[in-house]
Amino acid sequence: KDSYSVTLLPGDGIGPEITSATVGALNALTSHTSWSINFKESLIGGAALDATDNKDAFPDSSLEECRKADSILLACIGGYKWDNNPREARPETGLLKMRSEMGLFANLRPAKVLPQLIGASTLKPEVITGVDIMVVRELTGDVYFGTPKGIDVVDGERVGYNNMIYKESEIRRIARVAGEVAMKRGGKICSVEKSNVLDVSQLWKEVTIDVMEKEFPKIDLSHMYVDNAAMQLIRYPKQFDTIVTGNIFGDILSDEASMLVGSLGMLPSASIGSSGPGVFEPCHGSAPDIAGEDKANPLAMILSAAMMLRYDLGRGEEADVLERAVEMCLDEGWRTGDIKQEGDGCTLVGCKEMGKKVEAAIEKCMA
Ligand code: NAD
Ligand code: IPM
Ligand code: MN
Repeated sequence: KDSYSVTLLPGDGIGPEITSATVGALNALTSHTSWSINFKESLIGGAALDATDNKDAFPDSSLEECRKADSILLACIGGYKWDNNPREARPETGLLKMRSEMGLFANLRPAKVLPQLIGASTLKPEVITGVDIMVVRELTGDVYFGTPKGIDVVDGERVGYNNMIYKESEIRRIARVAGEVAMKRGGKICSVEKSNVLDVSQLWKEVTIDVMEKEFPKIDLSHMYVDNAAMQLIRYPKQFDTIVTGNIFGDILSDEASMLVGSLGMLPSASIGSSGPGVFEPCHGSAPDIAGEDKANPLAMILSAAMMLRYDLGRGEEADVLERAVEMCLDEGWRTGDIKQEGDGCTLVGCKEMGKKVEAAIEKCMA
């Protein structure tokens, strides 16, 4: 293919700012390639609610655009403005609808510590140097989608409930993704659950063992309770290679893992299904506390775009260039506020300027 169509979902908060930095970087890249990308913007989250009179945070028109694209780049959704909306009219519901409707059951969240950012982490250099973890998070099941759910009145008081539930087939397919991912990495998987207490985790563990024994006999599989895993990630993160876990545990542990890298603003992700385009999205949210101030770190989204080039467009070489350009910017000492340390001798830049620095680095790489 020499022309790809990419649906852009800028969403809310810092979303539009990091999206324009990311599109700038991709355009800088493709100005040097024989192939091109055509971008088309679509609505999701609060932006979609505003456009549909609070009806739908992921309208069918957006779903259609996503389905026919070669790939999808999503920034982030959510904000104070919609926080008191009923559940069905919340930005988050649109994001979950997108993941579910598009069958994106696997979310790959790499937490790789870059030497340039060792000082940006709150942890000691000797603890984080060399850390390279891949969190494989199940994305379309668990307590996020389980029924029954709701808030009812029982015996004169309100009771809120959700259901943590996994079908065997759902566990099997995410375990397979983890197996495939781990075979290309260190060959080591830690399955994180809470099988000492939860039946759903008991099944998770049994099925994971079965998949690895039958399909990935070379994988070194271990098991860890999620509470211990949260602690071990901070105590000795180098023990982890690939982590496979359910939707909610993966959500929490990946945010935790971002602090090994130095900032949530550095963590990319790929959401993929068994067929069709994937969605490439930073792990962070819409950062309403800094939205509109040109303070956001666009690198998580730019690194997500690199994952898109590699996984969906089959452009691994150009993905490498994008990642190298990000590292060059860090080498040159450009820092957004979230990764700036007092006395680090680096230069504080805004979102826009960081985008321009990445573009300049791409030019150097492609020259
Ligand atoms: P958040 O990730 O938006 O922000 C947490 C903290 O990290 C904030 O201090 C923020 O300023 C900072 N931060 C996040 N991304 C950054 C970046 N790129 N550069 C610099 N700093 C960054 O999480 P939150 O505050 O708990 O949630 C805010 C909203 O985002 C909520 O509506 C939530 O539902 C939504 N959310 C959306 C997604 C998503 O779109 N995938 C993910 C998480 C949260
Ligand atoms: C994420 C977010 C979402 C999640 C929310 C906004 C629905 O936290 O992408 O990590 O919990 O999956
Ligand atoms: Mn999250």
